[in-house]
Amino acid sequence: MKTVVAAAIVRDQKLLLAQRSYPDDVAGLWELPGGKVEDGEAVSVALEREIAEELSVRIGIGRGVGEPVVLRDNLILVARHAWLVEGEPVAVEHSAVTWVSAGELGAMARAGELVPADAVWLDDLVALLGES
Ligand code: CDP
Repeated sequence: MKTVVAAAIVRDQKLLLAQRSYPDDVAGLWELPGGKVEDGEAVSVALEREIAEELSVRIGIGRGVGEPVVLRDNLILVARHAWLVEGEPVAVEHSAVTWVSAGELGAMARAGELVPADAVWLDDLVALLGES
């Protein structure tokens, strides 16, 4: 079982979403940015690395958000609360990045604009935005 880790980056009660550019079945949908943990790599180190590669920023990492989601092909997806430490996010590998409020996130989920696995975390993400 491999782990994929994604960041729920929050600033000013808004969540950062990134728009996938590939593969075709999820291209155009929005996700929490992240990627696969390499063998022997700590989850938080993997998340810092993936976010630096994908968004050109450094993040701080906190607690887990929501329950792990089992993806197809032996992948397990986990999310962690995160915040910007250095830089402004740039869409290096994604089509775009955006900041959304809890209300906007709910509307996007209802419209089917989130990747399916991340949509499972809607209530957890809304709660996280309410706390921050
Ligand atoms: O770039 P890397 O191959 O490390 O990872 P990825 O392609 O971004 O993600 C690996 C798998 O996790 C893909 O199947 C993505 O669709 C899925 N994923 C997801 O469902 N939700 C996320 N927030 C991030 C990745």
